[in-house]
Amino acid sequence: MTNFNRRKFIKTSSLGAIAASTLSVNCQNNLNQSNHGKYLGGFKADPLPSIRAAFIGLNRGGTHLRNFASLNNTEVVGLCDIYESTLKRELERLYQITDNLKNLKSYWGSKNEWIKMIDEVKPDVVFISTDWESHTPMIKQCIKKGCHVFCEVPFSLELNELWDIVNISEKYQKHCMMLENVNYGRDELMFLNMCRQGVIGELLHGEAAYIHDLRWQMDHDETRMGSWRTDFYREKNGNIYPTHGLGPVAQYMNLCRTEDNFHKIVSYSSPALGRNQYSKENLSESNSWKNISFKNGDINSSIIKTKLGRTILVQWDETSPRPYTRLNLIQGTRGTLAGFPTRVALENGFEDITKDHHTWIENENLIRLYEKYDHPLYKELNEKTVKSGHGGMDGIMMYRIVECLNNGLPLDQNVYEGCFWSAVAPLSKQSILEDGKPQEFPDFTRGKWKETEKLGIVS
Ligand SMILES: NC(=O)c1ccc[n+]([C@@H]2O[C@H](COP(=O)([O-])OP(=O)(O)OC[C@H]3O[C@@H](n4cnc5c(N)ncnc54)[C@H](O)[C@@H]3O)[C@@H](O)[C@H]2O)c1
Repeated sequence: MTNFNRRKFIKTSSLGAIAASTLSVNCQNNLNQSNHGKYLGGFKADPLPSIRAAFIGLNRGGTHLRNFASLNNTEVVGLCDIYESTLKRELERLYQITDNLKNLKSYWGSKNEWIKMIDEVKPDVVFISTDWESHTPMIKQCIKKGCHVFCEVPFSLELNELWDIVNISEKYQKHCMMLENVNYGRDELMFLNMCRQGVIGELLHGEAAYIHDLRWQMDHDETRMGSWRTDFYREKNGNIYPTHGLGPVAQYMNLCRTEDNFHKIVSYSSPALGRNQYSKENLSESNSWKNISFKNGDINSSIIKTKLGRTILVQWDETSPRPYTRLNLIQGTRGTLAGFPTRVALENGFEDITKDHHTWIENENLIRLYEKYDHPLYKELNEKTVKSGHGGMDGIMMYRIVECLNNGLPLDQNVYEGCFWSAVAPLSKQSILEDGKPQEFPDFTRGKWKETEKLGIVS
């Protein structure tokens, strides 16, 4: 008997179509909805001494699966992907990590198998790592069926769906965390630590970005797996992937937590030229994206103004030939911390390395800065998580999720933060439509963000 057979796959029949899409309604209508429950800013769920998890979507989701399964007090009970080959691949990898899989059931073969999985295995938590349009319907169903949800970025590109996510989480009193792994990067954790210690004084301005040439994804096969983002460049406008750069800056500034919050955004995009050019030069005649026009400008620049009047530049570009960056800059009255490449300027200098802010602390001199300011979580976990994905941030994120669930602690990112960070997509689109007109962020907390404690430096 092969390993594969021993694992007792449960091949399930496909379900009838479930109405999964949400009607587009004006977000303000949702403000008046009365079907929401208690505010979830510092929400503590009952402790889960052993966490039973199911996973939907196993490409990016495979990383979450392996990181979860490698931790104590966890059990994988459900796996679902449309494609059997993806599922088999991830199962093979999973069996290298754990043999605690006696209750595992696997599902594949249609877009709705995940519903059957949730009904049958009744997990405590669900990890969703599918394309953006499926996030909201999956989140809603999983929460309704009694699960806490962890969903990949962004939650959604539509304001009404973000409100749906808030409302359903509040109504059923469940965690719904967007999996913003970048908040657990070494530099991001260190910058948070330095901001909390007041090293750069009062915070004034941040810069965030997702600048990553992903044109190669246009060379797709018939599944469009991994390449579906291209449809969004063709049809949408604005910053459609804002959260990797913005999440850390928002937490440096304590946005949505006691001190400050998102207020308004203005946005412009450049012409959309690069994708068409690339398609002409690189794609086969049979490729559906050959020679087509794209609507979404190659580079989007948005500026957020916070309630305290701070500013955040958020840029997005997945098309242009330039090196990867998330900018990761935070500027205060006494210095500036910046990423890509990592560099720090402090008004009063740093040890015997710099005298003042006219010179960056950079390159090999950063070692001394890391020694002094590395976040305790990074110091404690780095050796264990360094190979967990994206330089270790994926493993630290999962460690914290499991620790918080095991002990009934508030998560490091609440549902409102995920919604505010994602809301840059629809609001930037609207600003562009109105030639840069400022757009107000809806207050997903309904005025309660001042009640949420600042994210501390957990160790
Ligand atoms: N945080 C990060 O660093 C990071 C990195 C990559 C992707 N992502 C995010 O992860 C998500 C997934 O991205 P990806 O690159 O893995 O996409 P992908 O297309 O490569 O993989 C998606 C997987 O989900 C499966 N899937 C889709 N619909 C499904 C359904 N109805 N039922 C079961 N399985 C389904 C697909 O078969 C595929 O295996 C996106 O939200 C993306 O933005 C985040």
